[in-house]
Amino acid sequence: FSCGVVIVAAGRGERAGQSAEGPKQYRTIGDRPVIAHTLDTFATWPGKGPIVVVIHPDDEELFASARKRMARQIELTVVHGGATRQLSVLAGLEAIAGSGVGCVMIHDAVRPFLDHALLDRCRAAFERGAQAVLPAVAVADTLKRAKAGGLVEETVPRTDLHAAQTPQCFRLEPILTAHRSVAASGRTDFTDDASIAEWAGIPVVLVEGSADNTKLTLQRDIAMADERLTRRAV
Ligand code: C5P
Repeated sequence: FSCGVVIVAAGRGERAGQSAEGPKQYRTIGDRPVIAHTLDTFATWPGKGPIVVVIHPDDEELFASARKRMARQIELTVVHGGATRQLSVLAGLEAIAGSGVGCVMIHDAVRPFLDHALLDRCRAAFERGAQAVLPAVAVADTLKRAKAGGLVEETVPRTDLHAAQTPQCFRLEPILTAHRSVAASGRTDFTDDASIAEWAGIPVVLVEGSADNTKLTLQRDIAMADERLTRRAV
């Protein structure tokens, strides 16, 4: 088993605010850039195939120095992303298409706390024959739908609701075809790849995600991630 990996890191990270270190995937947590942690977890996983990292054209230097902070240097293909996450993933998939792998894992660079057990669960679902695998965690909070002014309209039953994570794993050829078709149809706003599989009628199977595998989105997420790694080191 070996599965290609696309890591999307071309976002601007605007919700995390401005930082001298650049977008959030390059911010330091536990004395190394976020993306170095993310890449290390894939680099040390026995199931990984070729790895493609999708970056913003302005971030060449940031990426080059972040890459040097990986625990060990491995071969990576670097390509430029697009205006939305969806377009960045498509660029990554096109780059991996020639490599001959049958499956691909698509992961957000800003989720540095994935672990090998999670990757193994995705792989196991694949080996049982799934075409698309989505790690997710059951929603714990009670959910409300509200109008823009804050007035609650209804309570959304949380039974059956799951929060989607990455890495999401797919048979390469069907997800690449689906991505190309959706982009050709003019839509570029899908926020994850399982929804593109759903759009194309590809069945998506859930596996247990990980509570640790959160997406660093806001400044406070980065501060908490840094604190967590710094504490672990002492
Ligand atoms: O914006 P969001 O938090 O959903 O981004 C998730 C991941 O997608 C991040 O790792 C970000 O760098 C990446 N992304 C991208 N290209 C974009 C927008 C986001 O690669 N145009």
